[in-house]
Amino acid sequence: MSPGETARLQAHVLTIFPHMFPGPLGDSVTGRAMASGLVDIHAVDIREFATDRHRSTDDYPYGGGPGMVMRPEPLVAAVESVLQPASRVIVFSPAGRRFTQAMAHDLLASGHLVLVCGRYEGIDDRVLALTRAEEVSIGDFVLTGGELAAMVVLDAVIRLLPGVLSTSEAWRDESHSFEGLLEYPQYTRPVEFRGQRVPDVLLSGHHAQVAAWRRQQALLRTRERRPDLLTPDHLAELDRSSDSGASAGGAC
Ligand code: ADE
Repeated sequence: MSPGETARLQAHVLTIFPHMFPGPLGDSVTGRAMASGLVDIHAVDIREFATDRHRSTDDYPYGGGPGMVMRPEPLVAAVESVLQPASRVIVFSPAGRRFTQAMAHDLLASGHLVLVCGRYEGIDDRVLALTRAEEVSIGDFVLTGGELAAMVVLDAVIRLLPGVLSTSEAWRDESHSFEGLLEYPQYTRPVEFRGQRVPDVLLSGHHAQVAAWRRQQALLRTRERRPDLLTPDHLAELDRSSDSGASAGGAC
């Protein structure tokens, strides 16, 4: 980056465990993106915005029930302290909209993310409207808090930044997200390992046949593992290829 240029993605992560960041994001591809100044990640301690004597960030739920709820005052104050005109404010929760590759592209476009990590039984619901936040889930399971979800989302967004991945890695991502299929199986040396051979077509040097095989494997894998991703066009393509006796699987 040239002098004076600002990071292309800035993120403020609001958490009661700021020492968890950057954590694994400080290594490898994301670590290099941070070191080169393309990405700025700031962990903000929500507790700093608590005003009572005990700096408490949680309280009992109205209406009763188990666990504690994060109080609205420190959370809203923490969000407002970092808010910019283009910010996207995300609150992590298993009750949120499911995170996808399309959402990763969309978040990147904003340039500034405010990621709120809930703990306990969740956060006071008024925070969502007051900060114009969106609730996001990274999957149908329950984590102990939003910190790991924030790391997952940041990793997925950072790798999309131009210049973060090499050209060949970036190409892989494009092909994967635009064709909407799971990836075909990959192999490297040796040709034979513990009795399992790399499929002959990959050794043939015949580019068109390799491309056709990969496409077919991607379709078959997707039908087996994630049939919900298949479009009518994919299904028609599978019907046509079933005549040729294709089956899912890797090495022969
Ligand atoms: N917090 C707890 N579980 C979560 C999930 N599945 N996604 C996002 N945030 C969460």
